[in-house]
Amino acid sequence: MVSGRGSNLDAIVRSIDEGKLNACVNVVISDRHDALALKRVEEWNAAGGKRIESFVIERSSFPGKDSFDDAIASILEEREVDLIVLAGFMRVLGAKFAARFAGKIINIHPSLLPSFPGLHAQRQALAYGTKISGCTVHFVDKTLDGGSIISQVAVPVLDGDTEDTLSERILKEEHRLLPETIQKLAANQIRFG
Ligand code: GRF
Repeated sequence: MVSGRGSNLDAIVRSIDEGKLNACVNVVISDRHDALALKRVEEWNAAGGKRIESFVIERSSFPGKDSFDDAIASILEEREVDLIVLAGFMRVLGAKFAARFAGKIINIHPSLLPSFPGLHAQRQALAYGTKISGCTVHFVDKTLDGGSIISQVAVPVLDGDTEDTLSERILKEEHRLLPETIQKLAANQIRFG
């Protein structure tokens, strides 16, 4: 599930193509029609690889939060997905959704959780003056970026870093950590709970 640029989605697809990740991206759901990630899916499909379905489910098209979450849940349930990866999905899913897919949803977050949950994690890290930040993959529960941690990589914060330079350094590690973590889940090397 995506909201924006889709570089983590790209890292997943690349790892699959390179034979490092034994998985298959069946469906991409975006809450924004203008997400660059959707363009990437169009390009992959046009290039003739295994077709990836995509859906745009925008919050503004649904009267209530539950009906938005339910629309997403139906797509995922119909396709019997094994794992839901929030790869830059910028909306908080409700408690009901989290419970429905407990142990089957993971998220990547650009900080060493539990430090700096929520938006602008890199900006928060710089404002706090922390010398080490990083990225975290965690199971999703009803709390914001609060589910149990699966994997982390530490990234140094350097003198003179801006939000952009720190984000870029962390993003490089995200692109390695997320596919590696999915592979461990696929190989049953990680258990939920
Ligand atoms: C990443 O930094 C991820 O950690 C955060 O949102 C950003 C998404 O980037 N949740 P992208 O869309 O995968 O390029």
